[in-house]
Amino acid sequence: WGAIGAGLLLGYLLGSVPFGLLLTRAAGLGDVRAIGSGNIGATNVLRTGRKGLAAATLLFDALKGTVAILVALRLLGPEAALAAAAGAFLGHVFPVWLGFKGGKGVATFIGCLLALDWRVALIFAAVWLGVAFVSRYSSLAALVASILTPFGLWYFGDAPTALAMAGLVVVLWFKHRPNIERLLAGTEGRIGQKG
Ligand code: G3P
Repeated sequence: WGAIGAGLLLGYLLGSVPFGLLLTRAAGLGDVRAIGSGNIGATNVLRTGRKGLAAATLLFDALKGTVAILVALRLLGPEAALAAAAGAFLGHVFPVWLGFKGGKGVATFIGCLLALDWRVALIFAAVWLGVAFVSRYSSLAALVASILTPFGLWYFGDAPTALAMAGLVVVLWFKHRPNIERLLAGTEGRIGQKG
């Protein structure tokens, strides 16, 4: 249990670094939470019109999950690595530094997948790109891609990993409640649409 707690904490500390907020602030764009959806993720950073910053946000938010897992795996073992994945995701979504109001978890989720099973990460990316290409909705792409991943993890891997990540998918969907309402109402912003 000590290793699991340590993995959780390590993941949380890494995951709670809000790169979208830090990068947009450093670029002199003010608070990204004041525009678009109010989210700190790459999709909303893109609404500032700065593609490079959005790509960097996606990359760094994803790496939080990948690095947390790889470090925990090496130092603490496989169970701790799964705890680190959960910690990183929850740290991003509920960061103590922002009063527990963080992002929606999509980038960190895919970063975790990359370290857990690259084949499932590839499926996630392909489904995300396919849905995003057709619909131009980032949220819809993430919702569809995320719900498929526990099945992929189960198929290629093991039940504990699939179940743990299914728990994170529930949180991811929960955080997308406003997006789901806007999608149903037909008012969701399309990818790249300025906020
Ligand atoms: O990755 C988050 C995305 O699914 C939705 O972002 O800013 O449109 O709420 P946003």
